[in-house]
Amino acid sequence: MNKFIYIFIAFFVSNIQAQQHVMTVDVSKSMAQISPTMYGIFFEDINFGADGGLYAELVKNRSFEFPQPFVGWIPFGNVKIRNDQPCFDRNPHYVRIINDGHLLRAGLDNEGYRGIGLKKGEEYRFSVYIRTPEIKPMKLSIELVNSNGENLLKKELEVKGNEWKKLTAILKPPFTDSHSRLRILLLTKGTVDMDHISLFPINTWEKRENGLRADLVQALYELKPGVFRFPGGCIIEGNNLSTRYQWKNSIGPVENRPLNENRWNYAFEHKAFPDYFQSYGLGFYEYFLLSEDLGAEPLPVLSCGIACQYACDETVALEELAPYVQDALDLIEFANGSTTSKWGKVRADMGHPELFDLKMIAIGNEQWGERYPERLEVFTKAIRSRYPNIQIIGSSGPNADGDKFDYLWPEMRRIGVDLVDEHYYMSPNWFFANANRYDDYDRKGPKVFAGEYASHDHSTRKANNFLTALSEAAFMTGLERNADIVRLATYAPLFAHIEAWQWNPNLIWFDNLSVMRTPNYYVQQMYGMNTGTDVLSLQMNGKSVTGQDSLYASAVLNTPTGEVILKLVNAGEQSAKVQIDFKGLKKQQIISGTCTYLQSNNWEAINTLKQELLVPRICPIKTQPRSLNLELQPHSFYIYRLQKSPS
Ligand code: AHR
Repeated sequence: MNKFIYIFIAFFVSNIQAQQHVMTVDVSKSMAQISPTMYGIFFEDINFGADGGLYAELVKNRSFEFPQPFVGWIPFGNVKIRNDQPCFDRNPHYVRIINDGHLLRAGLDNEGYRGIGLKKGEEYRFSVYIRTPEIKPMKLSIELVNSNGENLLKKELEVKGNEWKKLTAILKPPFTDSHSRLRILLLTKGTVDMDHISLFPINTWEKRENGLRADLVQALYELKPGVFRFPGGCIIEGNNLSTRYQWKNSIGPVENRPLNENRWNYAFEHKAFPDYFQSYGLGFYEYFLLSEDLGAEPLPVLSCGIACQYACDETVALEELAPYVQDALDLIEFANGSTTSKWGKVRADMGHPELFDLKMIAIGNEQWGERYPERLEVFTKAIRSRYPNIQIIGSSGPNADGDKFDYLWPEMRRIGVDLVDEHYYMSPNWFFANANRYDDYDRKGPKVFAGEYASHDHSTRKANNFLTALSEAAFMTGLERNADIVRLATYAPLFAHIEAWQWNPNLIWFDNLSVMRTPNYYVQQMYGMNTGTDVLSLQMNGKSVTGQDSLYASAVLNTPTGEVILKLVNAGEQSAKVQIDFKGLKKQQIISGTCTYLQSNNWEAINTLKQELLVPRICPIKTQPRSLNLELQPHSFYIYRLQKSPS
């Protein structure tokens, strides 16, 4: 390289390194109040998120209701599916096993969801509904088989009588294996019928019998979500209207919740999962309970009467919309009605007489065109007239901008919904460039719910890499600065099974035994744990910091603790020196506090199930009177929690 060019570059680089940025935070006045629900989670049964994931059931197709009833099962000997005199009217199929006394005994294995994850020493509850026409008792062997095919645990059960009854057994495997199987053998000559064959860890979240995977809920809990949107996404719309998510099918005794096709079973040619159905074992009651456990406001989404427009063109006629609207009204009663109301009683009978205190409901997901506002308006009028305090969320369609978006926003204003759900799955560059997206939004109409977003890096096949995480952190400073209009924000999707995913990136990955938090997760967590109550003005050269010199920033006050919380992103290749001056502090007040940061020199770095390298770390900060001098590393996201000393 020419010597002079080299000297010029060196001078230029050292100048950049030395450049001091001065930001001023005015702690004296609140610019806007931040919604306590601001940062939340969005759950959808995609990527084996519910069955095979959060829902802790280990047996796939436990009720033999899949269209091909042996999916998930490997039958051997004389094993047939029947539905005469069933145990459950809405899940009528069951399995008949006949041991005809030959050498080969009869039975079946269940393969679980890409295997059954078992942990040595943990307890598992096996259960089955069973009957036998035989006079003498029938003996069964319940076995746990490891991935080498060794049946290292066997337990015998006896069954008598031709009436359906439930048998249970506690199993404690002497091995750990993520790809185990459950085996059931009929040892005695004769016939037994079995249905709803189930295996659950005892150690579910809160030890509930029809419970959720404790490690996955723990990961959600640690996000400190303010809002919990469920159960989708496209699955609420269905591949057609008959497979839309119908919440009433997802409550009541779990054995009788009818199976539904999953919207994502054959959505992608390259990622078809013909074994992907919804058992509804994780249903609306469980979703409400989970909201309560997480301390998050529940936000259910219901079908507006239009099936997923990417999948088909089915729309319910306006004259036939009444049952859909009734479903929404009944859901509000299920959550908030007294125990003497029809649906409030159902809730109480399921074990929750207290109200779930539902405050918001979303109608429709990613609809577009005139049909959507026509239908939404009917819902809105009916909900407003019966439940005026319930907030209604409408949709701006599947894109961040464009025709659909431009048509729907004015329609949402006309209808007068409270919030508009926006979705954007865009590139890291888009996220960096859109930190100012909401700066000029119309403040008079509905508020914004950033209901689904994720940074998609197509150059790395949409990996959850550090670049995507940092671009989200930068973008979120813009959500925070505009917290007067952006009231809720939820990354999407939430979960993915490492061996059974259709969509990426995702916030949390898991296999049958363990869980992995992505750098994107940690960004969400850093925001969720540092929400604050009020937006403060933070400026550099008289402007918000939205990418100048690759810097992004926001500041909030947390009134209950009096802390000032700063969020700073340096997306540049060089470290950045930043001086923060505080306006509105009395002379003698000094700033002390803590700093957490996420950093990597490698844009493509990812976490794996084996190792999480990208995790927030703590950094010391020096206390100084009324200002802070910081050095932000390249590619970094910092949160400073600062305490004013008593004046
Ligand atoms: O989050 C995955 C999918 O993306 C959602 O189901 C849908 O709303 C969007 O298209």
